[in-house]
Amino acid sequence: MKRKIIHSIIFLMAFSAYSFGQATLKLKPEEATTKISKEIYGHFAEHLGRCIYGGIYVGEDSDIPNINGYREDVVFALKDMKIPLLRWPGGCFADTYHWKDGIGPKHQRPSMVNVHWGGVTEDNSFGTHEFLDFCELIEAEPYVNLNVGSGTVQEASEWVEYVTSNNISPMADLRKKNGREKPWDVKFWGIGNESWGCGGDMTPEYYSDLFRRYSSYSRGASYKIACGANDYDYNWTEVLMRNTQHKRHLIQGLSLHYYTIAHNWGDKGAATGFNEKEWFLSLSKTLKMDEIVSKHSEIMDKYDPEKRVGLIVDEWGNWFNVEPGTNPGFLYQQNSLRDALVAGINLNIFNKHSERVKMANIAQTVNVLQSVILTKEDQMVLTPTYYVFKMYAVHQDATLVPIDLICDKYKFEGEAIPAINASASIKDDVVSITLCNLNPNKEEEIEINLGSLNVSNSSGQIVTASNMNDYNDFGQEEKVTLKSFDVNNPKKGKLAIKLPSKSVVLVQLK
Ligand code: AHR
Repeated sequence: MKRKIIHSIIFLMAFSAYSFGQATLKLKPEEATTKISKEIYGHFAEHLGRCIYGGIYVGEDSDIPNINGYREDVVFALKDMKIPLLRWPGGCFADTYHWKDGIGPKHQRPSMVNVHWGGVTEDNSFGTHEFLDFCELIEAEPYVNLNVGSGTVQEASEWVEYVTSNNISPMADLRKKNGREKPWDVKFWGIGNESWGCGGDMTPEYYSDLFRRYSSYSRGASYKIACGANDYDYNWTEVLMRNTQHKRHLIQGLSLHYYTIAHNWGDKGAATGFNEKEWFLSLSKTLKMDEIVSKHSEIMDKYDPEKRVGLIVDEWGNWFNVEPGTNPGFLYQQNSLRDALVAGINLNIFNKHSERVKMANIAQTVNVLQSVILTKEDQMVLTPTYYVFKMYAVHQDATLVPIDLICDKYKFEGEAIPAINASASIKDDVVSITLCNLNPNKEEEIEINLGSLNVSNSSGQIVTASNMNDYNDFGQEEKVTLKSFDVNNPKKGKLAIKLPSKSVVLVQLK
């Protein structure tokens, strides 16, 4: 009872501050203990549409400037964005992929049909060496997804051996014969993808047995990620956690997929030219990530209270209808200011849950779904999502600073969502606060209470645009980019900020 009264008083005090029309955000640096894994800022590249071929890899003989076949512009852009990790080769493609088709002299590699994505020919010119060398070039950790759906345990086991073995062994010898003396340093391995769907249509009971078998023989893989649930499928998480609870050496991560779909799978809406209703729908659906992650985490807590198994959100992002006139199997979509907000909100949510969420991978790096980069022949566009990732890189491996946020609602046609979404971290004595103003029509004032922090200098950056559906296009000046943002220095432990409508803002204090 006493506790209830104290809570009500705290709430009323906070609310009375807020009722002057100003949102409040209180930083709690004394509770800052959890590291935000840099892998939360990870990406995903599948053999799908023009993600790998044309987007990342053009081959050494291409007229497009390249480094050993990798697009030079894309390499520099990804490095500049500080990409920490890349997942490959799928997605659904992973469970059709036979890795031995993608090694050795290119002219001897067999072609296959990419059955999931457009039925196009896959010539296997981008394989294990090309992927792992690319990760070294862009200084990103690789995350390789094994084939459980149509592969064998032996094939998976040999792939891990080929990549990681430092011994004299058949697979290590084959790797050396193919020109790579030293093993690659690959920590993260996924065991199947969407095994409840495109990866074999399995039940969680059947898959969890299979997972234990594949994981046992993936010697050399130090961080093994079991295929996890699709969005609200809590039973899948329950069964996987229950069936692996006494086998902690076999499972280090459990995945989760949740895509933001404004309408429904039949009509996902257009990536550009949308109205406020679609803006509101996308943002409210994307906020569901918080609830989904919380509920899966609660189940994981039951079986793993020490939080040894990471929740790996290895596919997320906006999924819209493909751009008119493009191959429906290539999932090519434009990227607007709405995508910037969706990226900012999800990254804030992952930061908040960083005790359990150890990795996340937005789908997909170049030319597919919510990409950070689009390419057209030799041209490249950096999307609004790119600029949010670049801005949020300050959170990578920083320590989460818990917050209390009280704000107004953004209302539309009788529905309401919080107008502001935020997270904060500290690294090398610099505090970074990322804030999204979801309201496309109204500036939001926020007062930041710095608590016990002793900081006196501030700086800021912003991603916004004149219109909610502005985007960057080939051959045109950028409409949505990263700009500096004026912030006053804090006074008496407080900082007042006006967040422009429809914006993503970074405030740094030291
Ligand atoms: O990212 C596109 C597809 O979405 C992936 O291949 C699959 O895992 C998911 O259904």
